[in-house]
Parts: sequence; C-alpha cells; structure tokens
Amino acid sequence: MKKELTQKGTTPEELHYNYYSAEKYEDDIRRAIPGYGEMHTGIKKALATEFGAKKITVLELGIGTGLTAQVVLDNVNVGKYLGIDFSQSMLNGARKRLERYPVELELGDYAAVDFPKENGLVISVISIHHQATPRDKKKLFKKIYKCLSADGIFLFGDLFTQRNEHEAALNEAYHFHHLVENAVDEKTLAEWAHHYKFVNHLAAIEDQIKWLKQAGFTDVEVLYSKFNTAAIIAKKGG
Ligand SMILES: C[S@@+](CC[C@H](N)C(=O)[O-])C[C@H]1O[C@@H](n2cnc3c(N)ncnc32)[C@H](O)[C@@H]1O
Repeated sequence: MKKELTQKGTTPEELHYNYYSAEKYEDDIRRAIPGYGEMHTGIKKALATEFGAKKITVLELGIGTGLTAQVVLDNVNVGKYLGIDFSQSMLNGARKRLERYPVELELGDYAAVDFPKENGLVISVISIHHQATPRDKKKLFKKIYKCLSADGIFLFGDLFTQRNEHEAALNEAYHFHHLVENAVDEKTLAEWAHHYKFVNHLAAIEDQIKWLKQAGFTDVEVLYSKFNTAAIIAKKGG
C-alpha cells in the first residue's frame, strides 16, 4: 500500500542501497558520477576557506557509507557530527568507514525527522535529487535554513538539470556517455542508466538556486559543475 503512495526512488528499497555491499556502492558512485572526486576537492577547498580552524557542528543529510563525511572530518575542526540516512546497510558502511571519528548516525528519512539546531554546516552530496517534487525540495531547503546557526553554511552537491532545453539535452548526453565509458559491464550500465532515467528526480539548477534564496539564503553560488554534477554553497548570513 505504501508503495502506491510514494513516488519512485524515494525509499531505500527502490534506491537499491539496501542490497549493495558498501564496497560495491563506493566503487559505483565514484565511477558513475561525473566529477565525483573533483567535486569533493572543491568542497574541501570551500571548507578550508569558510571555516579555517573554527570548531563547528555538522549535520549531513544522506551520509551513505561516509565518503563525503570523511572529507569533512579530515578537513574541519568538528565538534559534533550527525549523519542521517534511511538505509540501514549504508549506515553500517558508514559505521565501519568512520569508526575512528566521533560521529553520530541516525536511521531516518531526513524529510521527516527533526533536525538539531545551530549547525555551522549542513552538507548533502548526491542525495537531495531523491526528493521527488519541487515542493519537497523547497520544504527541505527551508528546514535546512532554519537549523543553521546565523553564520551557518549549506554545502549542496548533487545531480541537476538546466532550464535551457538545449543545454539540458547536451549535459544529459554527456552524462550517459560517462556511464557508458565507466560501467564495468553491461549489467552495471543497465542498472545505472535505469537509476538515472527512472529513479532520480533532477530539477534545474537555476530553479534550485531560486528556491534556496526563497528559503532565506542570502548568498548562493555554484562552487563546481561538470555536465549534470554540481556543488552549491548557500550562506545563511551572506
Ligand atoms: C548516493 S548516497 C551519497 C552518500 C555520500 N555523500 C557519498 O558521496 O557517498 C545518497 C544517500 O542518501 C540517502 N538518502 C536518500 N534520500 C534520503 C532521505 N529522504 N532520508 C535519508 N537518507 C536518504 C541514501 O540512502 C544514500 O545512502
């Protein structure tokens, strides 16, 4: 019954994250997302510029197996770190990868659970595109804005499309080309292509920048972009 009520790609079962080993997932995400490594290098630089040695509280939405978390934990002076994910098997991977770090992990849907307040940083990478509708994304941006401290920052890496149809078509072609070039076999390519075409819910980057500003963020900039992959930095206090 629940399945009929939810949009495709909004549960861990439909995302298949509960079936993969952490090792398979990590190999897949690094290969399947154009610019995955470069985007994290951009995030690392932004963390150094924005926070320096300042101690901050971090909230991560969709922590997965902890790949993004490790970049943050190795480069920021973290007081508290809470990672939320609705997939138990991904959290098991995160527990293992992050065992030497003081990280709290919470099983839950970040669209539904309450967030702790006064976070210096909210980060989410390759996850929010699973919020199915513009309304869901807007609601989440407002919730993120509210849980940040006055000088807090939202770092948002994800898959986007573009308003301009020709640009969107070209970037989609490049994205699929990247999948063809990087899949280890045809079965993997079929899974990735299906996930991208039927499970993801991409929205135009221009619209999402607008929604972030409508949520209250004063300063919103694109840090990194390649094809449909991009990272945005949104500052609460400007
Ligand atoms: C592709 S992973 C990315 C994780 C990490 N940033 C990385 O680069 O490996 C996205 C994660 O978001 C989680 N996720 C998606 N929608 C979610 C939701 N509504 N609530 C909690 N977790 C969610 C998935 O279970 C998955 O573990």
